[in-house]
Amino acid sequence: MRPIPANDLHTEPSHFPGLDVYAVAGNPISHSKSPTIHQRFAEQSLQAMHYGRLQPSVGEFAKVVKSFFATGGKGINVTVPFKLDAQALADVLTPRAKLAGAVNTLWIKEGRIYGDNTDGAGLVRDLLAQGIQIRGARILLLGAGGAARGVTGPLLEQEPTQLIIANRSSTKADELVGLFHEVAKNHEVQFESRTLLELEDQIKTPLAFDLVINATAAGLSDQSPLTADAVSHVFVPSSFAYDMVYGKTTAFMQQALHRGARVSDGLGMLVEQAADAFLIWRGADVSINPRSVLSELRA
Ligand code: ATR
Repeated sequence: MRPIPANDLHTEPSHFPGLDVYAVAGNPISHSKSPTIHQRFAEQSLQAMHYGRLQPSVGEFAKVVKSFFATGGKGINVTVPFKLDAQALADVLTPRAKLAGAVNTLWIKEGRIYGDNTDGAGLVRDLLAQGIQIRGARILLLGAGGAARGVTGPLLEQEPTQLIIANRSSTKADELVGLFHEVAKNHEVQFESRTLLELEDQIKTPLAFDLVINATAAGLSDQSPLTADAVSHVFVPSSFAYDMVYGKTTAFMQQALHRGARVSDGLGMLVEQAADAFLIWRGADVSINPRSVLSELRA
């Protein structure tokens, strides 16, 4: 075993004899809560594992991941900006990872790299754990990028009455609706695209929504995708507003609060997608309690 260099992100498998080593890969990665979450799951379920961080340079994701697996690493969670690289890298994709167009969970089995996407399942479980009824609900999903695509399939499978995808540019929203058209049909969901501007139009948006999910990147620049006119159409006090961003009350959440709606950030989704990844890696029969880890993170 060689000494740990100063810039090591505490991930090299040879430094952890007797432990199965996992990591989260992203750039930047220092802010990530995944190591804390997975270390707590490992403690809860008495798993002999270590979970570290990897920060590949952009363009070096495949090289870093292959080297991690070649030196004995067991699995990787993937975050911004590498979810598409992870999908391209995997030898085998689960059906939901294929549909999501992105991979957030990698593992190695008999020399082959497997890829899955647990983001959508994580969102659904967090919503249900918060008492939000998805079946029969009218849902507005804001954004049509990777984050929105990752959750569209799992939301449709919960059989809401309606799922509207609204995006700044109509092309991307139309594409997403085209991609999931069959899934929506199979689950009898009214599934349509809108532009964000069309949300201001009371004829196009006559009713408020039970659930509004922000999957745009607007919050990163302290903006909301909703204009004041759109806000008055989409929210009523019984609405629930969910922002996939975590750790702050975003402009989108503030708009919903002003309308008397309930709000949530995306920390629960982060914990629940991690829980699914953990169970894929360690076996569905291990016992973990994601909600208690979430409470600890919020404390
Ligand atoms: P991610 O993987 O986070 O979804 P992405 O694929 O780049 O990232 O998608 C970003 C999404 O946020 C897109 O839906 C984008 O809208 P456009 O397709 O019209 O570009 C949306 N977005 C980013 N900034 C926004 C803003 N200020 N207002 C509204 N939507 C925004």
